[in-house]
Amino acid sequence: MYIKRSWAEPYKMKMVELLKMTTPKQRKKAMEAAGYNTFLLRSEDVYIDLLTDSGTSAMSDHQWAGMMLGDEAYAGSRNFYHLEEIVKKTYGYQYLIPTHQGRGAENILSKILIKEGDIIPGNMYFTTTRLHQELVGGKFEDIIIDEAHDPENEHPFKGNVDLNKLERLIHKHGPEKIPYVSIATSVNMAGGQPISMENLTALRALTNKYSIRIIHDMTRVAENAYFIQQREKAYKNKTIAQIVLEICKLTDGATMSAKKDALVNIGGFLAINDWEVFEEARNLVVVYEGLHTYGGLAGRDMEAMAIGIRESVQDNHIKARIGQVEYLGQQMQFFNIPIVKPIGGHGIFVNASKFLPHIPQTNFPAQTLAAEIYLDSGVRTMERGIVSAGRKPSGENYLPKLELLRFTIPRRVYTQAHMDVIAESAARVYEHRKKIKGMTMVYEPKYLRFFQARFDRLNS
Ligand code: F0G
Repeated sequence: MYIKRSWAEPYKMKMVELLKMTTPKQRKKAMEAAGYNTFLLRSEDVYIDLLTDSGTSAMSDHQWAGMMLGDEAYAGSRNFYHLEEIVKKTYGYQYLIPTHQGRGAENILSKILIKEGDIIPGNMYFTTTRLHQELVGGKFEDIIIDEAHDPENEHPFKGNVDLNKLERLIHKHGPEKIPYVSIATSVNMAGGQPISMENLTALRALTNKYSIRIIHDMTRVAENAYFIQQREKAYKNKTIAQIVLEICKLTDGATMSAKKDALVNIGGFLAINDWEVFEEARNLVVVYEGLHTYGGLAGRDMEAMAIGIRESVQDNHIKARIGQVEYLGQQMQFFNIPIVKPIGGHGIFVNASKFLPHIPQTNFPAQTLAAEIYLDSGVRTMERGIVSAGRKPSGENYLPKLELLRFTIPRRVYTQAHMDVIAESAARVYEHRKKIKGMTMVYEPKYLRFFQARFDRLNS
């Protein structure tokens, strides 16, 4: 008999945090107070928190020990030099600017590279990344393959770039209007979908032809590397660390939210091979973040990040991390819940348009579903649909093809039993889906509205 070898967590628990269980009545009150926006709930009122995988990881004993080695000097902290060494060794980028988190790096980079009227092609937008591009007068153009916009399509690399789309943009606007191509590994808004090494290599060749930079949003690069190892034959026997380095070598620089892959609660950086861009970034970081050897972080945060980066590219870690996400996806599929396929790297993305087909996108199906799941079980999820997409600079709503609800799995935090509870909650809501009505937005902030918008239920 063939007995499979299951994944299991390559760690054990040393400390636990007790969770609060709530009653349906308490959850109803909390959801009303939060204006039906899961971002506005108090985390105390949440049982299992799948809002995001950002800054929610459990650190290892080594990382905690590293925190005690924080050198809190204003300038030249030894933790900065340690981080710089690890970034160079793990990712290969030459120059490092630490920032308080990913968007700090996006702000600085956009200000340096983008001019009014520039075009920034990318493999699907990310909320903060696109906003920083727009705030300095750039225009984002989506060049991801069409398959990425179809939740049912099982393409193994839905993060791939459609090179024809890119070439058309280059011909239309001219290469001088395109400061860089913005490439995310493990594309968040597509459902944590990877880009293949083959596609990235072809993209490198095309951009070289026109002397256009590739800037890498490397927030979840290790997770992307795992899919390359599993799905691209030539990489079957390579380690995650080797694949990560190879991905980075195909790009010219990167912005990083270390709050994801790199297993820390706060931190990020800008990494770049070009000295002139680095020099300008070193000027700007002082304005927006802090001195170039701390960028808004404490020395101890940089030490935890350096150690987290090392742990993040270990094969056993990634196998268990994505194994857990996959397990939840399989449980959801068992209950026939429509999810984005293939199962992605950092969470399960439920297709809210298919779950609640009777609710028009303008009545926020994914936002509505987030509220329903919380009311059922205290599980907190996040909308990734029309609310997240926001408005164009002209004021019109972006109408994304994907109307998704993200069940994001924090790293090294929850158990398989938690995954069962989550899938069962989704299944219970699925059973009474026809009775669920949509919502209207009653308060809308100007920027990144999904964080603070408020809603009312229809006919309630
Ligand atoms: N790029 C990607 C792909 C991200 O997922 C995020 C954050 C950022 C950049 C910005 O980084 O938050 O450190 O400033 N994503 C979080 C999420 C917020 O929940 O998906 P940040």
